[in-house]
Amino acid sequence: MSNLVSVETTDGVRTIRWNRPEKKNALLREMYDAAAEAFETGETDADVRVFVLGGTPGLFTAGNDLVDFMQAPPHIGSEDMPPVERFMRALMTAKKPVIAEVDGLAIGIGTTLLLHCDLSYASENAAFKTPFVDLALAPEFASSLLFPTLLGRAAASDLLMLGSVWDAKRAREAGLITDIVPSEKLAGFVNERARALAAKSPGAVRQAKALMMTPSESAEDRMAREGGIFAQMLQSPEFNEAVTAFMERRAPDFSRFG
Ligand code: COA
Repeated sequence: MSNLVSVETTDGVRTIRWNRPEKKNALLREMYDAAAEAFETGETDADVRVFVLGGTPGLFTAGNDLVDFMQAPPHIGSEDMPPVERFMRALMTAKKPVIAEVDGLAIGIGTTLLLHCDLSYASENAAFKTPFVDLALAPEFASSLLFPTLLGRAAASDLLMLGSVWDAKRAREAGLITDIVPSEKLAGFVNERARALAAKSPGAVRQAKALMMTPSESAEDRMAREGGIFAQMLQSPEFNEAVTAFMERRAPDFSRFG
């Protein structure tokens, strides 16, 4: 395990942090591998309900390490999966929710990866930038598809073509992040949100995420899909616990469910 990534699991929350502040948390292959492993093992660990992905105080990440890029250019989609792809696949396919905590710079993949998180909170000094064209490179990890869908073509081009720097306010207005929290309160706030999510019915949280990630279909098809899942969940012990707790005027306890 790399000491450039810290991984900690408490109260159902696995917090993964980039930890290379002397290089602005620029991401090396060993860091992608370590983070991928934390996601992969967390997916099958019943003690992990929610993932948090963050950096160090005042710094999320300056993106891929540019020296590493030159030394070992990754070929995404090739047979020999590079660590960055392993990491992004682990993030993109996580069934458990992922919360991003962005304090300071989120450059390149630091912004791209937000497209694959469920919730993103940023401090007022966050800065988002995808300078791929400036580096004579192309967008990555489906961002040329997902940015225009999320932001609209014009705003997506501002990020992906001009490489503009977006502040937290702009990112929130565009729907790229969930909310802005003062820097000194960000980690505590995210942890509190993560613990709240970890205390909910894990089955229900996973279903909500899975449905939101299901590719586009007609509203009628989606209604039928949801209806089938809903009917199944009405029979679940987790629903039983939710209703029993309501009747007994207590908070539900979902801790025994995986
Ligand atoms: N890859 C490798 N090293 C990086 C890096 C990156 N993406 N970003 C920063 N660093 C290193 C710098 O080389 C420097 O190392 P040194 O102290 O050994 O010289 C150290 O981190 C501090 O960076 P510095 O540029 O001195 O800090 P700054 O506050 O002036 O600027 C940034 C910070 C992030 C704005 C600037 O470093 C930058 O633009 N980095 C490149 C971002 C980028 O293009 N990422 C790739 C996206 S695909």
